[in-house]
Amino acid sequence: MKIAIGSDHAGLALKEALKAYLDSRMIPYEDFGTHTAESCDYPRIAEIVCKAILSAEFDRGILVCGTGIGMSIAANKIPNIRAAACSEPYSAILSKRHNNSNVLCLGARVVASGLATLITEGWLNAAYEGERHQRRVDMLTRIEQRYAIPFAPQAPREEDTNPIMPAEPPAGED
Ligand code: RB5
Repeated sequence: MKIAIGSDHAGLALKEALKAYLDSRMIPYEDFGTHTAESCDYPRIAEIVCKAILSAEFDRGILVCGTGIGMSIAANKIPNIRAAACSEPYSAILSKRHNNSNVLCLGARVVASGLATLITEGWLNAAYEGERHQRRVDMLTRIEQRYAIPFAPQAPREEDTNPIMPAEPPAGED
């Protein structure tokens, strides 16, 4: 199993703790940023990590921000991403067993690193149960499809190729 992991500035320290946990279990991962404590915008990191998952090079993603909420909202905008913001292990495990979540979102200002590690461990060890849940997951996909906006090609924006650097928040912003 290969993990795509990312955080904003608020989630940076917890992400480092989770990387240490992944190292200890020899679970391969790639860190898609942010890499400094400077304020940055969580939707950009969420998009980068989710794109990596959709590329099929990565099996699951972990996203960390202050609450886990912004990351989960951003990630769930992307087709075929099922992101679960969890602050205890039971929901994380069930999000995999029943909802086939492929992204776990954690709030560094909500859960301490010890609990976040237990949540992550439970989620990584859990397996999707399929069967009756597949019908419901298929329904989620159909909702996505019903509301999908037809793709209109656009000129690439700088943030598409260099998503973190441009439009940096003003210095001192949280
Ligand atoms: C950053 O201050 C904070 O808003 C962000 O990390 C996250 O909690 C948003 O959902």
